[in-house]
Amino acid sequence: MSIQYEEEQNIFHLKAGGMSYAMQVVRGKYLAHLYWGRGIRSYEGSRSLIQKERVLEANPESGDKSFSLGTLPQEYPQYGNGDFRSCAFCVRDEAGSRISSLSYQGYKIEKGKPGLPGLPASFGKEPEAETLRIHLRDEAAGLDVFLLYSVFEKENVIARSVCFENRSQKELMLEKMMSMSLDIRESDFDVLTLYGAHNNERNPDRRPLKSGTIQIESLRGVSSPQQSPFMALLRKGTKEDQGEVFAANFVYSGNFQALAQADSFGNTRFQMGMNPWNGEWLLEPGESFWTPEVLLVYSDKGLNGMSHTFHRFIRNHLIRSPYGKQERPILINSWEAAYFDFTEEKLLALAGKAKEAGIELFVLDDGWFGKRNDESCSLGDWYENREKLPLGLHSLEQKIHSMGMQFGLWVEPEMISEDSDLYRAHPDYVLHTEGRPYTYGRRQLVLDLSRQEVCNYVLDAMEKVLSLAGIDYIKWDMNRHLTDVGSAFLPSKRQGEVFHRYVLGLYWILERLTANHPEVLFESCSSGGGRFDAGMLYYMPQTWCSDNTDPVCRIGIQYATSLIYPPVAMGAHVSASPSHQTGRISPLSTRGNVAMSANFGYELDLTKCTEGELLEISEQVRFYKEIRNTVQKGAFYRLENPFEGNTAAWEFVSEDGREVLAFRFTVLCRPNAPVEILKLQGLDEEARYQNAKTGEIYGGDELMYSGISIPPEEGDYRSGCFRFWRV
Ligand code: GLA
Repeated sequence: MSIQYEEEQNIFHLKAGGMSYAMQVVRGKYLAHLYWGRGIRSYEGSRSLIQKERVLEANPESGDKSFSLGTLPQEYPQYGNGDFRSCAFCVRDEAGSRISSLSYQGYKIEKGKPGLPGLPASFGKEPEAETLRIHLRDEAAGLDVFLLYSVFEKENVIARSVCFENRSQKELMLEKMMSMSLDIRESDFDVLTLYGAHNNERNPDRRPLKSGTIQIESLRGVSSPQQSPFMALLRKGTKEDQGEVFAANFVYSGNFQALAQADSFGNTRFQMGMNPWNGEWLLEPGESFWTPEVLLVYSDKGLNGMSHTFHRFIRNHLIRSPYGKQERPILINSWEAAYFDFTEEKLLALAGKAKEAGIELFVLDDGWFGKRNDESCSLGDWYENREKLPLGLHSLEQKIHSMGMQFGLWVEPEMISEDSDLYRAHPDYVLHTEGRPYTYGRRQLVLDLSRQEVCNYVLDAMEKVLSLAGIDYIKWDMNRHLTDVGSAFLPSKRQGEVFHRYVLGLYWILERLTANHPEVLFESCSSGGGRFDAGMLYYMPQTWCSDNTDPVCRIGIQYATSLIYPPVAMGAHVSASPSHQTGRISPLSTRGNVAMSANFGYELDLTKCTEGELLEISEQVRFYKEIRNTVQKGAFYRLENPFEGNTAAWEFVSEDGREVLAFRFTVLCRPNAPVEILKLQGLDEEARYQNAKTGEIYGGDELMYSGISIPPEEGDYRSGCFRFWRV
């Protein structure tokens, strides 16, 4: 049994994989957090909740000065009666009060993992998962709150979400509804988050939690490259391969907030959920509201341990597409090869060279529709540009297919250009606030997906695109953030819902489109990796990792992205040198090694490559086909951290443990440098491994503990791949 309830002490003990999570109903009313950490056979409460009188703390019971909600470690803390820390939820009643008092009502244990209405969510059947539903009630407000904990039997994962139900006869305004909150009875942590920007996504930020709050958020309407919806608490000294990690990742693509708050008595409040700012939701009598879910992951094997759990879990319990389990094709994308400037002839010439190199999928990026020759127009006009493609998309697609390649297309369906037929017909489709001027991003406006009518239009438009030609792949882009957020179709008291309704509208479209076309491979994109989150991965099994394809920058971006997401989820392309983003000149081999470490493709004008380069590209493609299974399905180990030095290294071990691939990168060449060592991980100590190139055979223990010598090489941005077979 994964969920145990011990009646005498009212303790819930959730056992997931190798971890335990324990809670207790205190005084018949309050849900306290007891423990989250390494697995315990039977949780009996040796570390009891000792409360003591503390001056300036408030007491819910007049006769007991030792008991205070302000010092009690809790699971879903409320506002207004003595807990002065960040509350997990806040409800305003019709009289304007924000005070809540929940009391425990009971629990239910269900087999499997339920879905969440209208939201992406992890899945697992019995016996893979079991779900605990704890019922709390605020009698005065007439509010029921259900806390859901889905425990995965074989993974160190608990998925948490919350459902609010208005059982009163009056309206309730949900002002804050975190998906998860818990108070760890310790505070000596480092907090790890990922921050960035366009072309510079996901940089790790590790800072000590001392006092007060470390908080990250997005208010951009999307999860954003500025902060990823991820936070981890690291025990001091935790490294890649050792130490304890308590991580939370949000399965949601809109505004979010995550925080770690140290109180004065050695507890850390850890919270994640939708951003409460301009994020209210009106709950009419009888209505319910579901929060998106948070994945809680525990590791006692350092950050690599955390990542292994995330990677496996995302592949097996989150990505719904049939491609989640299939090998992904090697693609060529037309964007950096031609930008907006192409003809059918030019595209076919590019496809021809790609085919010769062994590339499997041709993707026509931006510029194929409306009268689009630059960013200024046509978003919304999803029919082919007959000036550029006089024979139409269908003709192009047929020619590509007859070459023996798959055909893919770029779209940006959430957007509208002022200069478009769509805007001329439906200016009201724009997300905006009446009486206020528009704010632009990339000269474009956003469609108001909080309206069903607009969602119907988008779904319909995309169905038409998919019927224009035989399309095997869609790149779904989103190139600006939300401004002027408001809706003329909602009453004033529902204006705070627009941000979330936008995301729900997007999910409504994606749910239908991806279910109608399971044969299509979808890749999500938002000016590169600007919406790289678990919510999007639920619908689309891969995400364009960054517009920045400079290999040196990509090493860092992919390294940090791998903290949460498996390499197969990261689109990675070899592009031209000098790089279009940085101007850096780098060897083709290194561009290849970086891109090959993820979901591989090309994005450069192959018709301008030299014979030598084309030969090298064919060789890279051939090699990737050989290693693809291991890269896309194997276990991934980060070996050397590019954020800490001049080198980076990572390694893949195939599912069956037979193949080992280590990639190592040196950024700048150092004169008269020492011989460096690379130590492998994840091998069988007792097994022997043969170097695929040299034929030399070594023990797994030697390769891991003594390592391989890396001879110094001349030149900047060098890299190598070491391949071993277990013999
Ligand atoms: C965004 C994407 C790019 C490309 C362009 C096209 O920037 O991230 O990959 O598709 O849009 O306009």
